[in-house]
Amino acid sequence: MVQEPQQARWRNMMPADLPAVVQIAACVHLDYPEGEHVFAERLALFPEGCRMLLDGDTTRGYLVSHPWTRKVPPALDTLLGKLPGFPDTYYIHDLALMPQARGRGLAIEAVTAAFTTAKTGGFATLSLVAVGDSKEFWRTQGFAVVRDADVERSLASYGGSAHYMERAI
Ligand SMILES: CC(C)(COP(=O)(O)OP(=O)(O)OC[C@H]1O[C@@H](n2cnc3c(N)ncnc32)[C@H](O)[C@@H]1OP(=O)(O)O)[C@@H](O)C(=O)NCCC(=O)NCCS
Repeated sequence: MVQEPQQARWRNMMPADLPAVVQIAACVHLDYPEGEHVFAERLALFPEGCRMLLDGDTTRGYLVSHPWTRKVPPALDTLLGKLPGFPDTYYIHDLALMPQARGRGLAIEAVTAAFTTAKTGGFATLSLVAVGDSKEFWRTQGFAVVRDADVERSLASYGGSAHYMERAI
């Protein structure tokens, strides 16, 4: 009998996924390196915001997101310590797909999952820092660049080519 190829799907991230997350990050974000401890902390603080993309038996992407404060995106490769007591945005820390998994609508599925979590949590906005050439992707998902002095200061660790973006819910 011929076996159907398994469809790619998102599932919850687990601590055992962290080495794969770091490996994917190292391939995808050459200019924005973050240590395993950064991903491990986000997973511990807000596991419901962390997802893994499984393509057949291979992990090929991840989503990391959590409640946060508008217009003060965390610095790159930095621990949060804790989540804010009164968060006012749902923050997408990172969405990364290996090249083999791109162009199949799988990133949109992850954005939809983040949107649903944010809406369920009563947040009025989604926010993120767009790096590399991802700004246009985020525009297609309803995000717009927000500029002000506080935001620019917070972006310093990204080295100049990053954009803070928000989308209303
Ligand atoms: C950004 C990223 C997650 C998008 O993944 P993807 O698999 O290409 O996205 P999808 O297949 O779900 O496509 C979604 C839509 O966005 C469009 N799109 C994707 N990347 C785009 C880009 N750089 N510019 C413009 N449009 C883009 C697609 O054409 C598609 O539109 P369509 O449905 O009208 O055809 C992926 O390219 C990636 O992992 N990049 C490297 C990591 C990164 O920069 N992540 C963002 C961190 S802020």
